[in-house]
Amino acid sequence: MVLAPWPSVTTLALILGLVGSVRSFTHDAQHPLRPDLPAINDHPSYPPRVDYAALYHDDGTTPPPDRMVLHPLHISGPEQERVSLTFFADGYVAEEEGKFVADAQALTDDIVSPGGAMGHVSRLLNIYAVFVPSNTSGVGTYDKSLPGAAFGLYRPGPELRGVYVRHHKRARAACRYWREEVKEGGCDQPILLGNDPLYGGLGGEFTVITASALNGPLVLRHELGHSLIPVGEEYEGGFAYFGANSDKVAHVGDLKWKSFLTLPEDVRVEDAKVPSQEYPWYNLTEGPYNITFQSSNSALKPVVSHGSNESPYPTALLRLSLSSIPQPGHINLTLNSRHIDLSAAFPKSWVGSKDRRWVEVPLENGLPAGENVVDVRLTQEGAEEQEGEGGKMITSLEIMEYGREGRFNESLGFIGAFPTYSMDGRVTLRPTNEECLMRKVNHPTFCPVCAAALEQSLLGKIERKNKNQGAKQEP
Ligand SMILES: *[C@@H]1O[C@H](CO)[C@@H](O)[C@H](O)[C@H]1NC(C)=O
Ligand SMILES: *[C@@H]1O[C@H](CO)[C@@H](O)[C@H](O)[C@H]1NC(C)=O
Ligand SMILES: *[C@@H]1O[C@H](CO)[C@@H](O)[C@H](O)[C@H]1NC(C)=O
Ligand SMILES: *[C@@H]1O[C@H](CO)[C@@H](O)[C@H](O)[C@H]1NC(C)=O
Ligand SMILES: *[C@@H]1O[C@H](CO)[C@@H](O)[C@H](O)[C@H]1NC(C)=O
Repeated sequence: MVLAPWPSVTTLALILGLVGSVRSFTHDAQHPLRPDLPAINDHPSYPPRVDYAALYHDDGTTPPPDRMVLHPLHISGPEQERVSLTFFADGYVAEEEGKFVADAQALTDDIVSPGGAMGHVSRLLNIYAVFVPSNTSGVGTYDKSLPGAAFGLYRPGPELRGVYVRHHKRARAACRYWREEVKEGGCDQPILLGNDPLYGGLGGEFTVITASALNGPLVLRHELGHSLIPVGEEYEGGFAYFGANSDKVAHVGDLKWKSFLTLPEDVRVEDAKVPSQEYPWYNLTEGPYNITFQSSNSALKPVVSHGSNESPYPTALLRLSLSSIPQPGHINLTLNSRHIDLSAAFPKSWVGSKDRRWVEVPLENGLPAGENVVDVRLTQEGAEEQEGEGGKMITSLEIMEYGREGRFNESLGFIGAFPTYSMDGRVTLRPTNEECLMRKVNHPTFCPVCAAALEQSLLGKIERKNKNQGAKQEP
């Protein structure tokens, strides 16, 4: 067993949280299922993925917690013929058992309801909630788990991002207990649900999420995509691009998803650029934030034809995430000194929330050639608002530019070959522009390619379960 060269995962997380933008890191310990991946996978904007089993030796002697109570939530068939997801409670005191079951049920309904991300495979899933009482309500912050927490979930800093597991051996023992001893309650994939109302989580061995009404389902779907399909990211700036939704540019003529292509006879790499990608985690109370970047339109002289300005990238998209900004009028976002109205990007159901939020502004006239400046600052009203947990932060800022018709197809439902730019600028291809929750975390569903891969993967897992069971029963 290889141990972490760092003092702890937490220290790493702290460094990542505070530095905000990590470029890359190497690590000795490997992912148990994918030796080509490290045991810790991080992206500066989203929850990290940690494989605790690869990082810390576990001799298996840690007992499961006492007083666990099983609540079946979605049962579609016998354990042996299903893949089981099991929610475990962390940071819920005894009196909050009902809240825990309701939180887990809402998350279950979100994923397996007919229009949900896993609605098409609900027949292959069983979902349970296991209540485990904690002695303190909530999850820890600033690197400290709460005393008497069942699994000791905590945030490394104030940021609404990673939520780590202090008692990972106990969590593993709890899952093993239901899967191997009771043989009920499943636990093919443990999900630790932290009793906290704001965004956060972790992927990997344990899917960690919070009871955030707005963000809990987003983190759950995305992390289950990694764990169950399994696929890598589709968003820019990461380094783990693999699985059914990722292929090399050189394979554009023979893509993994060629049977899904809208125009299989005419495949091209769609022309989109990402001129700027930042993960500032910047506290706006400290002052304004700005970035300066060159638009992709600068590379070529605008072509003038029929009297209109035909720049090569006529449209663009600004995507940012914020925390503790409950109203659009609390910040002034300007592009080249022009105020951008964010009211349309603050959906009704999210207005007033200080949770982390995802903001998208289509720039229908694209970006002017040359230098562009985006500036974000609190307005008077924003400055006067009381700071929520995590602080008034701009957490990420990305700009995409799209090629004109004939080079970029933006129509919904189009499956082709879209470029994804990794942390070090390498390009891989993905099937859809913005129609997969592996890319856009607030998109409610997987793209058809990932959805099909999920079904295949679950069927494979069930087949292996039966084989293993068959092998055990042989004399
Ligand atoms: C909560 O406190 C009780 C009494 O001190 C203790 O027995 C129990 O182990 C604690 N629970 C956890 C999860 O630490
Ligand atoms: C951008 O922010 C820096 C401080 O980080 C400041 O020095 C500079 O004047 C700002 N630029 C603009 C255009 O506001
Ligand atoms: C936002 O900032 C711009 C540029 O400084 C200013 O002209 C505009 O009045 C501000 N708008 C709001 C709503 O604060
Ligand atoms: C943000 O900055 C202000 C002013 O320095 C500070 O009081 C506050 O604690 C900071 N918030 C966080 C979450 O760091
Ligand atoms: C764009 O995609 C749509 C399907 O979403 C397709 O019908 C159309 O032919 C495509 N257009 C071009 C120019 O490739």
